[in-house]
Amino acid sequence: MTERLRADPEGVARAAALLQAGELVAFGTETVYGLGADATNARAVASVFEAKGRPHFNPLICHYPDGDAAFRDAEPTETATRLAARFWPGPLTMVLPRRVTCRVALLAGAGLDTLAVRVPAHPIALALLQAVGRPVAAPSANRSGQVSPTSADHVLDGLDGRIAAVLDSGACPVGIESTVIDLSAGRPFLLRPGGVSQEALEAEIGPVGSGLTPGQVETARTLRSPGLLVSHYAPSLPVRLYAVAVGRDDALLAFGPAPPGAGVEFQLSESGDLAEAASRLFEGLRWLDREGAVRGLVRIAVAPVPSVGLGRAINDRLQRAAAPR
Ligand code: TXA
Ligand code: MG
Repeated sequence: MTERLRADPEGVARAAALLQAGELVAFGTETVYGLGADATNARAVASVFEAKGRPHFNPLICHYPDGDAAFRDAEPTETATRLAARFWPGPLTMVLPRRVTCRVALLAGAGLDTLAVRVPAHPIALALLQAVGRPVAAPSANRSGQVSPTSADHVLDGLDGRIAAVLDSGACPVGIESTVIDLSAGRPFLLRPGGVSQEALEAEIGPVGSGLTPGQVETARTLRSPGLLVSHYAPSLPVRLYAVAVGRDDALLAFGPAPPGAGVEFQLSESGDLAEAASRLFEGLRWLDREGAVRGLVRIAVAPVPSVGLGRAINDRLQRAAAPR
């Protein structure tokens, strides 16, 4: 059963405690309800994808109580500092380089070197983020393929029984998602139109790339959202999938009992637990890529992972990593 928590100090404290314990809690923001998880806890982040039933990992927005907290994990450009002063708290998400000291689990950013950060303009959401004291990863709180929820009832329609609680702060005043702007590479680029208009952004910082049709925006976003682009995700070593036997020049990404003989091995989940495997996937690929190169190995060999539940998202990511470049 999913608890429905009232938006009072008690409800906020309960929601914060659940998040700190690695549980999922939906909460209202000024835009839409988010499905929150402790962004520093990779297992909690994996369960977000599981609860949503998403067939792939895409990067999630990390929510913070203020700009200082956000900029501890993501490195602000001068433009970012200006936008934060003007639009935060508010419906604006900025994509920035991850700091080396970033506390956010790699899975929350889908393995990227960038991080999407936002400070929502909603008193209950801000009280919650303050109380949690850690970044909260939160995609919209709907099942994959359904529309974003703007009330606690909408959230429960899709997720009742799949999440620990929903913090009911009533209807969301803005009702559409935050604007996403990419400041991580060169010219500012609009990845998703939303609560802050392009005109308002340009009044503050000058020209912002875009001016595209929604379809073109989607394509551009796909190209700039590395999660969705093969080359950004691919390790530098070639990747061989469905490896049931391995040799000394293989760096093995194992799932469950591992075939013997690999040059080096990273275990996703000894017991074959898909949520554990998802939480360790990007860490494993990065580690094997580095370690394999150091040891002169020639490829990453990936043990079969069943395509059920989170396994589908894991295999989607692995297939991208193995795609020819
Ligand atoms: O209003 C909102 O932004 C809501 C509330 C809950 O805050 N959240 C939301 O999250 O809409 P989600 O996960 O549904 O959308 C995240 C968007 C996606 O379009 C994703 O591709 C983009 O942000 N995104 C996240 N991290 C990114 C990154 N590192 N690089 C590029 N795009 C990123
Ligand atoms: Mg969404």
